[in-house]
Amino acid sequence: MLVSAKEMLDKAKAGHYAVGQFNINNLEWTKAILLTAQECNSPVILGVSEGAGKYMTGYKTIVGMVNGMIEELGITVPVALHLDHGSYDHCYKCIEAGFSSVMFDGSHFSIEENVEKTKEIVAAAHAKGVSVEAEVGSIGGEEDGVVGAGECADPNECKAVADLGIDFLAAGIGNIHGKYPENWAGLSFETLDAIQQLTGDMPLVLHGGTGIPTEMIQKAISLGVAKINVNTECQLAFAAATREYIEAGKDQQGKGFDPRKLLAPGTEAIKATVKEKMEIFGSVGKA
Ligand code: 13P
Repeated sequence: MLVSAKEMLDKAKAGHYAVGQFNINNLEWTKAILLTAQECNSPVILGVSEGAGKYMTGYKTIVGMVNGMIEELGITVPVALHLDHGSYDHCYKCIEAGFSSVMFDGSHFSIEENVEKTKEIVAAAHAKGVSVEAEVGSIGGEEDGVVGAGECADPNECKAVADLGIDFLAAGIGNIHGKYPENWAGLSFETLDAIQQLTGDMPLVLHGGTGIPTEMIQKAISLGVAKINVNTECQLAFAAATREYIEAGKDQQGKGFDPRKLLAPGTEAIKATVKEKMEIFGSVGKA
């Protein structure tokens, strides 16, 4: 059964580890992540961007697929199904379709409008036991075709949004989606520290988990980060393993083409990536 992400993240914050959010794109990715979470006895969050939602034909299909897999694969660790960087309308669609968690990304609105809309989403989500992530300060890089530069959130604005009854907060601290540029300044721990001082027990979320050095991840966790999002790294691992399989000519079986064999190496590569991340985040054995 799907669970809200609130309890697992409150536990992670108190226990000084982080739960990974891994974005899904299809059946293979979903299966790989669920099986790895079960093997690692780790809680897990499946992230769905609006683009991936559309690709997988819609939110109801995703809810059906994930619920079916949890039952038929015998998954017993806590699993949350979470809308990643949701717009106002799509948060409602996901709450309606049976997601257990949503992110409302109002970071591109004025802080007043972000606050107003976040409040409305919190009321609708909590009425159905769905957890809510809000964002302050935009996260750089490209997400579903939208490109932004990483910025540092204003800690007072973070406090204002944290006080709206949200369950966890994503704050920009110089993090970027995708690969980091050579001249990246690194995470702003000063900003993170100031945000945690003002928001207390609120679990903080680190987007752009791909390519952040392990020491920085661990320092961020020590300063209140309890959820870390990973997407690009799984994509890179999947693509590299698939390319290697095709270049070796293994996709041609002589009697046709088997998509199940073609997608298997990529699926295994995702499993290895997810396991490595769960070990770094400290969530192994925490289910
Ligand atoms: P990466 O693609 O950098 O791993 O970031 C993922 C993310 O933050 C999704 O919201």
